[in-house]
Amino acid sequence: MELKERIVKLEEEVRSLSEVPASGLESFRIAYAGKKGHLKQLYEELKTVPNEMKREVGQSINKLRVLVDEKLASWQEASPLNNKAPEQDATRPGSGQAQGTVHPITLVKEEIIDIFSRIGFTLSEGPEIEDDWHNFSALNFPPEHPARDMQDTFFVGKDQALRTHTSSVQVRVMEGSKPPIRTISPGRVFRNEAISARSHCMFHQIEGLYIDKGVSFADLKQTLLYFAKEFLGEKTDIRLRPSYFPFTEPSAEVDVYWGLDTETDHRITKGTGWLEIMGCGMVDPDVLRNCNIDPEIYSGFAFGMGIERIAMLRYQVPDIRMFFENDVRFLDQFRSF
Ligand code: DAH
Repeated sequence: MELKERIVKLEEEVRSLSEVPASGLESFRIAYAGKKGHLKQLYEELKTVPNEMKREVGQSINKLRVLVDEKLASWQEASPLNNKAPEQDATRPGSGQAQGTVHPITLVKEEIIDIFSRIGFTLSEGPEIEDDWHNFSALNFPPEHPARDMQDTFFVGKDQALRTHTSSVQVRVMEGSKPPIRTISPGRVFRNEAISARSHCMFHQIEGLYIDKGVSFADLKQTLLYFAKEFLGEKTDIRLRPSYFPFTEPSAEVDVYWGLDTETDHRITKGTGWLEIMGCGMVDPDVLRNCNIDPEIYSGFAFGMGIERIAMLRYQVPDIRMFFENDVRFLDQFRSF
């Protein structure tokens, strides 16, 4: 049979097939488009066709090829046995969806909030961009006072700065409500400090404030002892060392007894067994006055701690920067907490 006639016949044959032929889709593909199939054969024979006919015959083979491709594509789409079949197997187990983890800073923050809420502390928050009054002046840092150098500040415009501590929220709470006040204020704080394994320009604190009639230093100590035992275990001991903060008088730093069992214990406690975890004190009468609370009637205590520091202790994290890098290999380790 002449080449041209064979092409026409094959074309008619393919065109007449409205469904997958009985022999199956794959054998149709092999017969027409396979390595030894009709199309391959026809292209082979095209080489022997006289030059003046090549164009016309070539075009009709191409037409046949397009038709075969179209048929294959439409059958493949419709067939339940097509190549995509395994993906549509309803009995296959699902691939699951990766679940995120709670950030260690959030874990520690929520645990601390929970511990204080059990003894009646409420939650309060303030802005991260603060004015001079709430961050410094109301807390007894007068302008030019050297104590302002304790915290290197990022200024935003003339009177505003990124808050350097959450003590600013104390002022806002006292200004906005009447005693008795029992509140804790978690939040982000900022300091213009060199970033290293132990310090960062952005970190988190939790501030505590308790104002009522007759609040004493003994109340402060018992509250902090309760917290330390709840957070670190019933056997935990604390000690208070005299310190200085402009907004408390007297002021103290709180250490917890960490132990001296291992070499790491020696290293992180500098051989003393004790670890500093927060600052605290009795709210200075001047601060109460600044917030329209009469120090003749009310007294109170305040404390503040760094969440990263506590999280580093709890999870033995050696470098504060790990909390902010969002490395999934680090974050994934908090899945079971
Ligand atoms: N604001 C202090 C700081 O950032 C921490 C602090 C110390 C808060 C003593 C207090 C406190 O409320 O009483 O270093």
